[in-house]
Amino acid sequence: MLSFELKYARRRHLPALHFRRVAFPFTDRSSSVLGMDLHSKYPAISDLKSRAKRRIPHFVWEYLDSATGDESTLHRNHAALQNVLLRTSVLHGEFTPDLSTSLLGQDHPLPFGVAPVGMSGLIWPGAEHSLARMAAQENIPYCLSTMASKTPDDLAGDIGAHAWFQLYPPRDMGILDDMLRRAKAAGFTTLVLTVDVPVASRRERQIRGGMTNPPTVGPKILAQMALCPVWTNGIRKAGMPRPKLMESYTENRSALPSNQHIGYLMRTSPDWDYFKALRETWDGPLVVKGVMNPGDAARLSDEGADAIWVSNHAGRQFAGGAATITALPGIRAATRLPVIFDSGITGGLDILRAIALGADFVMLGRAFHYGLGALGDAGAAHVVDILRQDMISNMGQIGARQLSDLPATLATPAAP
Ligand SMILES: Cc1cc2nc3c(=O)[nH]c(=O)nc-3n(C[C@H](O)[C@H](O)[C@H](O)COP(=O)(O)O)c2cc1C
Repeated sequence: MLSFELKYARRRHLPALHFRRVAFPFTDRSSSVLGMDLHSKYPAISDLKSRAKRRIPHFVWEYLDSATGDESTLHRNHAALQNVLLRTSVLHGEFTPDLSTSLLGQDHPLPFGVAPVGMSGLIWPGAEHSLARMAAQENIPYCLSTMASKTPDDLAGDIGAHAWFQLYPPRDMGILDDMLRRAKAAGFTTLVLTVDVPVASRRERQIRGGMTNPPTVGPKILAQMALCPVWTNGIRKAGMPRPKLMESYTENRSALPSNQHIGYLMRTSPDWDYFKALRETWDGPLVVKGVMNPGDAARLSDEGADAIWVSNHAGRQFAGGAATITALPGIRAATRLPVIFDSGITGGLDILRAIALGADFVMLGRAFHYGLGALGDAGAAHVVDILRQDMISNMGQIGARQLSDLPATLATPAAP
């Protein structure tokens, strides 16, 4: 995240990408753009990924899609999910599975939401607004990153009932207080403290792709942009994204370059004392994201966390770690708190696998950005529709009427 602070020109305006949404016969929600049936052309998130790759400049694509080191954690996440098998069951008669659940005292129509992604607006112009609006419409959680290109204030008019704010903890407690005040005033009700970025990671693919810190828009990047006219036009209208929230605290400190200010202000390695202070400061639900160790989950439960988010940051921080689905059962056993899960979800079946192994809720980061990159606003909503349809279809196969039936369908223990 911090390795990716951008130095671009400021401009405003959102890209003028508007799609008409009309009913799709197989689904209860929209899945068409300008009359085109999205399910027949893009039935899977992998189809959106392929199209997004062609429409997003290579250096940005490498930021979105890469992991750290040899990327083995990224691959392990996928492989281990595929190894979780569910048992089918027959003669259940006709039924429509119920996908609703509750989390942190709130009802949710679907058990998934949008994970925080730094510089989302670089991946697709206007991404933060698009995703917040889509999430409000679908009534699913949207989690805004500290390192997003929009501030909580910017999104106040877009968010719905389930707006979460993700915190990379600032060193200065005055700035922390102000960030939390702004998030709350804008309507963000749940705070997510990310703890799996104790140091910056090296993302070699991202470096090779042409990202520098700060990035320089030289001939190589310009050539990549020229190949992606929709993205480039959108950025021209919206303005080159910047980590606006962090920058809002550096504006009056002109003695140092702004990237050094941000590096100083961001303290990415909080300790238990910091957590305790944060717990005392924030009076709403507090979720801790990036937990892979049952001992940490148990201690966080004792120290006042409200939910544990099992995540390895999609393999972007540590190539030598376990797949999140492998870590999930141990963490489920270590805490009575709700457990949120992410990293490597590629479809509705993966969501069912995570719930079968003890997750209460699932979040996705890249999938929603593949949707935006492929189809703009309609792509993010189409991701929700793919996941929903996929869950319904697979729950029909295994005879699960509701999400709480899923643990009983496990055919294997946790993946190796
Ligand atoms: C491009 C990118 C940027 C991210 N930025 C953040 C961030 O700012 N804060 C954070 O807590 N997690 C961040 N994450 C991690 C996501 O919140 C989430 O844990 C991860 O993407 C889930 O895996 P998935 O992309 O396979 O669904 C980022 C992930 C990606 C791909």
